[in-house]
Amino acid sequence: MRVWAIANQKGGVGKTTTTVALAGLLADAGKRVVVVDLDPHGSLTSYFGSDPDTLERSCFDLFQYQGGVPQGLPAELLLPTSHERISLLPSSTALATLERQSPGQNGLGLVVAKSLTQLWEDFDFALIDSPPLLGVLMVNALAASQQLAIPVQTEFLAVKGLQRMITTLAMINRSRKQALPYTIVPTLFDRRTQASLSTLKFLRDSYPDNLWQAYIPVDTRLRDASRAGVTPSQFDSNSRGVIAYRALLKYMLALVQASRVA
Ligand SMILES: Nc1ncnc2c1ncn2[C@@H]1O[C@H](COP(=O)(O)OP(=O)(O)O)[C@@H](O)[C@H]1O
Ligand SMILES: [Mg+2]
Repeated sequence: MRVWAIANQKGGVGKTTTTVALAGLLADAGKRVVVVDLDPHGSLTSYFGSDPDTLERSCFDLFQYQGGVPQGLPAELLLPTSHERISLLPSSTALATLERQSPGQNGLGLVVAKSLTQLWEDFDFALIDSPPLLGVLMVNALAASQQLAIPVQTEFLAVKGLQRMITTLAMINRSRKQALPYTIVPTLFDRRTQASLSTLKFLRDSYPDNLWQAYIPVDTRLRDASRAGVTPSQFDSNSRGVIAYRALLKYMLALVQASRVA
């Protein structure tokens, strides 16, 4: 199994959309994918038709055991989605109580990594949609992953969230054996706006080594797909957004081979 986190310490930048789009394309290609909703807002869970406010069982359950995640629990929590090869480990609002806790204090930093170990043979990919706050959940997402995508909205205020995310990553890397490779993904790009053009230029000048050189354009079909509760490629496999996500997926897969990320 390969584990990717999709994270940024800012909301509304395209994290959930990126998670679902990449998962959908992997599943279209025959891969078995588990998507993990670690955001207490539960957008990914809502996307696939469950209500994070009323779900009785969720990722929160994984954090309730001092002696380690019980055998079989992660598999019991899985929910089906619109795609037969995508399963969801759902969020619930209870996760918010964990969000701001520091992982160092209670040794809860590896709960997600250990849970995914139990699913290792059942799935080819795990994609983790991360919360926008630095706390137990973010640490779990980054600790469990072999690769990180950081969606960055191409507008003026986006750069701060990115800088915060990179500082967080540096902190996490100190407790990892290997630095976590990351890819900055420009999102919601609108070529007609000065903000999009100048932010993209800034990213290209500032992060030449870790930036995916293309971008995800604004595409209303992506919103339509989320309203329909299906993956973007299930909704319209040739929309501009899906074509861009297909290129991003190809890039991220090639990165694995180039760097031989474990
Ligand atoms: N490329 C895009 N084009 C148009 N709308 C988008 C695009 N990416 C995301 N959106 C929409 O923007 C909103 C925020 O995106 P979302 O993926 O939920 O961000 P996050 O998970 O970072 O909070 C959602 O309504 C989503 O449908
Ligand atoms: Mg989200």
